[in-house]
Amino acid sequence: MAKKVAGFEIGSYAVHIAVVTKKGVKKVVNEPLPEGAVREGRIVSYEALADFLKQTCKKRKLHFDEASVILPSGLCFCRRMQCPVMTHEQLTVNLPYEFRDFITAEKDQYFYDYAVLDVIKDEETNEPRELDLMSAACLKSTVTDYKNMFRRAGIKLKTAIPIEMAFTNLMSKTDELSTHCLIDLGHTAVRLYMYNGRKFENSHVVEYGMSTLDNIIADVMHIDPFVAASYREADHDGCQSLPECVEVYQNLANEIQRAVYFFRYNNPDLELEHIHLSGGGANIAKLREVMSETLSIPILDCSEIISGDADGIEAALGAAGCAMQ
Ligand SMILES: Nc1ncnc2c1ncn2[C@@H]1O[C@H](COP(=O)(O)OP(=O)(O)OP(=O)(O)O)[C@@H](O)[C@H]1O
Ligand SMILES: [Mg+2]
Repeated sequence: MAKKVAGFEIGSYAVHIAVVTKKGVKKVVNEPLPEGAVREGRIVSYEALADFLKQTCKKRKLHFDEASVILPSGLCFCRRMQCPVMTHEQLTVNLPYEFRDFITAEKDQYFYDYAVLDVIKDEETNEPRELDLMSAACLKSTVTDYKNMFRRAGIKLKTAIPIEMAFTNLMSKTDELSTHCLIDLGHTAVRLYMYNGRKFENSHVVEYGMSTLDNIIADVMHIDPFVAASYREADHDGCQSLPECVEVYQNLANEIQRAVYFFRYNNPDLELEHIHLSGGGANIAKLREVMSETLSIPILDCSEIISGDADGIEAALGAAGCAMQ
């Protein structure tokens, strides 16, 4: 039987799990987290979250052979870099220096890793000249915390990767020559990831997400913000299309457009051709509509980058990409 890998992404609102085989995504679970389990992108109690993961896998009848997890962006640095051709041993020595402007603790407190995206050849001699790399650094203590959490949940954790690598795995399915923007419409933030084929180019974060809508809906409908959250998800009384909510969608679309213009300015040779959406906010039809009208870049269905038709796949794209590692 084909090996089943479960990819996990722990958001601030929900845990996303995608069970994947070579043939595609078999099952997806987007399970809201207990209140206060993750604050400002950090897991508050690894033990409590381990118990929650264990219960969720049991309750949702998830069966898989091994797991992989996305490391949160606040705890894991990822960057594209070019360097002269060198051996693995030489890269191991050099990578810590490439991260010196990003990391805050001593350099030997981090794990470093890289993936070779391309080998650039000399135009005259055709000899390999430069390596085009995607590299990452993460505190060893963070990796240990995650390992222990999964062990406590009874799950065999095989890999832990940054979100940029997970999306690279998805982008491997796309045309090498086209440029895409993956937009994650999350609870606390909206994040843009620009890819040239499978090569990660750039990211941008808009520091508010779907939770902003709760106070607005609460104000307009004279209800508690907590109740507003459930109104919003169920689109109760059409609240997702309130003019005050549409104004938020428009502001978001404008911010995204500014980031796209900036990307175009810095990369005049690359034309952004497609948008892919992920995150729970992708379920809000009115938001999709406003983005599509403002950006004038086609929003593609996620089936273009992933096989399998599991329900809720858009919210779990990061988890699915991570399972493909
Ligand atoms: N069907 C839906 N209609 C409207 N909103 C939805 C729907 N499903 C989920 N959401 C909302 O989308 C938001 C983002 O959900 P998501 O599961 O992507 O959050 P997250 O990954 O935990 O957040 P973050 O990435 O910011 O840490 C949440 O506020 C959630 O309430
Ligand atoms: Mg998320």
